[in-house]
Amino acid sequence: MSNYHIKNLEEYFQVYRKSVREPENFWQEVAEEHFVWREKWDNVLKWDFSKPEVKWFENAKLNITENCIDRHLLTKGDKTAIIWEPNDPEEDALHISYKELHKKVNKFANVLKENGIEKGDRVCIYLPMIPELAYAVLACARIGAIHSVVFAGFSASALATRTLDADCKMMITADGSFRGSKTIDLKGIVDKALEECPDVKTVLVAKRIKSDIDMKEGRDKWLQPLLDEASDKCEPEIMDAEDPLFILYTSGSTGRPKGMLHTTAGYMVYTAYTFKNIFNYQNDDVYWCTADIGWITGHSYIVYGPLANGATTMMFEGVPTYPDSGRFWEVVEKHKVNQFYTAPTAIRALAKKNLDLVDKYDLSSLKVLGTVGEPINEEAWHWYNDNIGKGKSPIVDTWWQTETGGIMISPIPFATPTKPTFATLPFPGVQPVLMDENGEEIKGNQVDGRLCIKFPWPSMARTIWGNHDRYRDTYFSAFKDKYFTGDGALRDEVGYYRITGRVDDVIIVSGHNLGTAPIEDAINEHPAIAESAVVGFPHEVKGNSLYGFVILKESGEYRNQDNLRKEINQQISDKIGPIAKPDKIQFVEGLPKTRSGKIMRRILRKIASKDTSDLGDTSTLLNPEVVDRIINQR
Ligand code: PRX
Repeated sequence: MSNYHIKNLEEYFQVYRKSVREPENFWQEVAEEHFVWREKWDNVLKWDFSKPEVKWFENAKLNITENCIDRHLLTKGDKTAIIWEPNDPEEDALHISYKELHKKVNKFANVLKENGIEKGDRVCIYLPMIPELAYAVLACARIGAIHSVVFAGFSASALATRTLDADCKMMITADGSFRGSKTIDLKGIVDKALEECPDVKTVLVAKRIKSDIDMKEGRDKWLQPLLDEASDKCEPEIMDAEDPLFILYTSGSTGRPKGMLHTTAGYMVYTAYTFKNIFNYQNDDVYWCTADIGWITGHSYIVYGPLANGATTMMFEGVPTYPDSGRFWEVVEKHKVNQFYTAPTAIRALAKKNLDLVDKYDLSSLKVLGTVGEPINEEAWHWYNDNIGKGKSPIVDTWWQTETGGIMISPIPFATPTKPTFATLPFPGVQPVLMDENGEEIKGNQVDGRLCIKFPWPSMARTIWGNHDRYRDTYFSAFKDKYFTGDGALRDEVGYYRITGRVDDVIIVSGHNLGTAPIEDAINEHPAIAESAVVGFPHEVKGNSLYGFVILKESGEYRNQDNLRKEINQQISDKIGPIAKPDKIQFVEGLPKTRSGKIMRRILRKIASKDTSDLGDTSTLLNPEVVDRIINQR
């Protein structure tokens, strides 16, 4: 491969064709040209989707932090690796150079070791978007510990479930966090979660909000004094290509979250290569992804992908609406951001505000805009293109998943002509197919079906932590020898893909993946409730909202339905987090079910979206009479 950047559509097709015809040569060249290896691989790829088993760069030896930090020291030591922009615009931003990052990560790594963490141990990280979050992630990778970052908006119960599932030995958190005008008592949440997790022996606490908090003797330690004492030299642990790098939880169709396991070499190669090409990153650019590192977008495209390229990547602690809804654009101007990557839900919310909040800032530094996490509607796409990109910055609508580790379908800026609402073409190495309900591949264009991937790519998750059977059943059993994404998609007349949304029981609300099952479980735990079903319906800003249909037990204890709604919402907040609260809860006498007892969600979705003119075939229902009653009582 001559060049790391793809420059035009013709070159994209050339590169793409090579990646499909000779995938091993293709990825071998990328891996050889751009990374530091302690030892090279014996095989580029071994795979068998029936097991499923996938190994990339077998027996290669490396450390990802050596690739993300050390190797830049000679040429880019003083370059800013991370710009940290705080919640409060009055507080100073930080510019952390590669040299400083190296020191901070080494010190942190030594603190982990001194507190008993060894290669292969799991460390749970529950931190706000402060620099310590990036240091903690990289420090784990430095010593071969497996990080499991839990988004710091999850509840104590959700944190406990994840900590137990990964069997974490250590928790890294902060005294609290700032979010807009609010402060959140993170340490209190951790204390509550750890009541259920006796195996967490050490809690390292970063100071952020300087509050007076309880420290549990023998377990809790302030982080800063330990860092001050620690040596800033820590040799990287030499890892095998397929050694685990991290676990990251995502929702699924049962109550238990799935701990997606990502490994080292393939993940590094793929996130670095996609980052460079999809954001067209050039040496002095400032790149900003507004996601939280608690999600895969932050792992791959705030931390690993950008740093592996020696880029300047920004971490933003705040929210788009604080102190006002011009904050994103103020930050773009302040740091002269060149690539800006955000979620459609944020765009939709900001598009509702007065344009003065955009126009008062100089956005001329912007070169590439990106979106991720959910389908972007046409109106939001045009608003983003016209008012933020001023018609000159291509929008990369990037489709991918926690499971895929990196971006799978996306335009290449300045090469792929964009088309509103279309993620367009597969990234080199990605072989998407559309499947019909009978398991047959749908060939040709102007078709739609279930989106699968028929060939491995380097950053795919290798398993679900502790449950390989679930991994196989969820992703590799619906369609033989194919990875099933859970999404529906259409392919237009020129072969562009448009993702139409989930075809399973996952609902995306404000870009967050929510399984209906865990929400229903949380509702059903209420003593007054017999059964429930949660579905999504379209929402102008959030993309989707949740609608809960709830059957009460007969006892009639709860006459005040508003109170009951509050209790249900509280229970969902406690079990999962406030994000999972339904916008509407309707009490019903029954739920439409098939003869085999399965809830017909299709009908509930239509009722929730007030689209009941054509409910389709209801003849297979066991109890068709409940449908009219639900509609009448809506
Ligand atoms: O339904 C797709 C949607 O988000 C799902 C993956 O969610 P998660 O694992 O949380 O990862 C989000 C960030 C990578 C997908 O199955 N999705 C993601 N990106 C897009 C999208 N839907 C449409 N267009 C996108 N660009």
